[in-house]
Amino acid sequence: MRVLVIHGPNLNLLGEREPAIYGSKTLAQVDSEIAQAARALGIEVTCAQYNSEGAIIDALHAARSTADVVLINPGAYTHYSYAIADAIAAIAIPVIEIHLSNIAAREGFRTKSVVAPVCRGTVAGFGADSYVAALGVAAKIPIK
Ligand code: DQA
Repeated sequence: MRVLVIHGPNLNLLGEREPAIYGSKTLAQVDSEIAQAARALGIEVTCAQYNSEGAIIDALHAARSTADVVLINPGAYTHYSYAIADAIAAIAIPVIEIHLSNIAAREGFRTKSVVAPVCRGTVAGFGADSYVAALGVAAKIPIK
């Protein structure tokens, strides 16, 4: 199984960005935890980070031929990007929404996810373990 992990905007600043909310791990540390968990599950994983909406949409389109499951943390685009929601709906592969923080417990604008309805499910609130938990779920999704 091939899993693509897409980290959205501002996640390149993990470690220094609002550590009380997002934790003190850098993106490289999060990616290495993801890689370690993937190895244990026998999953082939690729992680990428993009700040722009178009780059995320391009990565989702490209995943059609390179991935069996996508894990996506769309950052703030979660709350308003119908273009990313449309891209997720357009591709046949299962997509799991990920958040480091518990968006349901934060400011009002963060409690709404416009991508949630087109994702298989959401894992939020567990820091880097949100990705690790989702990998465990991804490993059980039958691939076509
Ligand atoms: C986030 C939550 C979003 O509201 C925020 O804009 C982010 C990170 C999370 O992982 O908790 O950039 O997606």
